[in-house]
Amino acid sequence: MNILVTGAAGYIGSVCSEVLVSRGMSVIALDSLIEGHRPAVPPSAVFARSILPIALRSKPSSISTRLTR
Ligand SMILES: NC(=O)c1ccc[n+]([C@@H]2O[C@H](COP(=O)([O-])OP(=O)(O)OC[C@H]3O[C@@H](n4cnc5c(N)ncnc54)[C@H](O)[C@@H]3O)[C@@H](O)[C@H]2O)c1
Repeated sequence: MNILVTGAAGYIGSVCSEVLVSRGMSVIALDSLIEGHRPAVPPSAVFARSILPIALRSKPSSISTRLTR
């Protein structure tokens, strides 16, 4: 199963990604790297550097760490 994790280079997102990968999931790790750290993303995850527009943040289709501040 493919799982999209937004904010995946942040604290919660990276922990979620690690757990999902350890359970055999395919993780698509999305993060803007505005605050996050690329090395925090599991190497086996597909990384996408992108900024989520605000509107998108309210309709996650899978696991999402809330990116509100
Ligand atoms: N850490 C906690 O203990 C905790 C507890 C409860 C709630 N939260 C909430 O969970 C969320 C995540 O917390 P965290 O501690 O992982 O924060 P964090 O700053 O470590 O991670 C957030 C990540 O989201 C990325 N990001 C921010 N805006 C983005 C955008 N528009 N597009 C793409 N990526 C974007 C940042 O680059 C960063 O990597 C926050 O909303 C926080 O308030 C955190």
